[in-house]
Amino acid sequence: MKILVTGATGNIGRKVVDHLLAGGAEDVRALTNNPARAALPAEVEVAEGYLGRVSSLPAAFDGVDRMYLAPLLDTIDEVVALAKAAGVRQIVDLSGEAHWTPIAQAVENSGVEWTHLSAGEFTENASVWTDQIKESDEIRDPYPELANAPTNMDDIARVAAKVLLSDGHVGKNYELTGPELVTRADKIRLIGAALGRDLNVVKVSREEGIRVFSRGMDESAEWYVDALAGMVDYAPEPTTTVADVTGVPAIPFAQWAIANADLFR
Ligand SMILES: NC(=O)c1ccc[n+]([C@@H]2O[C@H](COP(=O)([O-])OP(=O)(O)OC[C@H]3O[C@@H](n4cnc5c(N)ncnc54)[C@H](OP(=O)(O)O)[C@@H]3O)[C@@H](O)[C@H]2O)c1
Repeated sequence: MKILVTGATGNIGRKVVDHLLAGGAEDVRALTNNPARAALPAEVEVAEGYLGRVSSLPAAFDGVDRMYLAPLLDTIDEVVALAKAAGVRQIVDLSGEAHWTPIAQAVENSGVEWTHLSAGEFTENASVWTDQIKESDEIRDPYPELANAPTNMDDIARVAAKVLLSDGHVGKNYELTGPELVTRADKIRLIGAALGRDLNVVKVSREEGIRVFSRGMDESAEWYVDALAGMVDYAPEPTTTVADVTGVPAIPFAQWAIANADLFR
């Protein structure tokens, strides 16, 4: 069975490749813009291309049975049509809510068998506080009370690999979250604990939040802060899907913070 990983040098795609190999996959093809820079394991067949460059896809899709579909909205209709034409039998897509739902919709409309991986906020988004934590023990945030169950990228990749390597997942919409609800203030304090520091969280105005985050995000900071505002009254229940599908529980935020403390030093 030939499995194609698109976006194979992206944050999640690269981990999907590793989990496929660890799970015993023997025929993995990886789609990347830059095969030399990608430094993929030797047993992986490399295809040059990108989901946004549709002319590269017929060759990449040739002979593929199942594929991990990285999230790219711009070309999604052409991508799924080409996958269908090439005889791809199952698509495992990373989609999500709101902005990302057209991906799941296009995959379903294609007529190819599908499994959706729907993720909320990524654990790794905690990097928004990196500069502040490096510089001070006082961390400014406009919505420290906002809670969610952030999803670890490695958990997403683990589920994707499991779904690609086993049967019984067609037609499933897997809602992936972390194992527990944590507020933004909790996340900051857990990073502090991983660093052996006592971080103090200060709630600031929307405008101050935009100013603080502009440093790392430029003009996206306003969009980001207003997106947070829209989520303040909504704390989604954690799911057990990562554990149910893979047999291994989802990674708690505190564990990620300890493993990645160097990002904040
Ligand atoms: N809830 C959520 O937060 C949520 C939900 C669903 C999806 N997402 C999105 O999921 C993505 C996950 O990140 P990811 O790193 O795994 O995947 P990605 O951002 O889709 O990137 C995968 C690969 O696609 C190529 N690529 C991406 N943008 C490109 C561009 N403009 N031009 C040329 N090539 C481009 C790059 O390939 P090469 O390395 O080969 O150059 C990149 O490594 C994020 O974009 C995130 O916004 C988020």
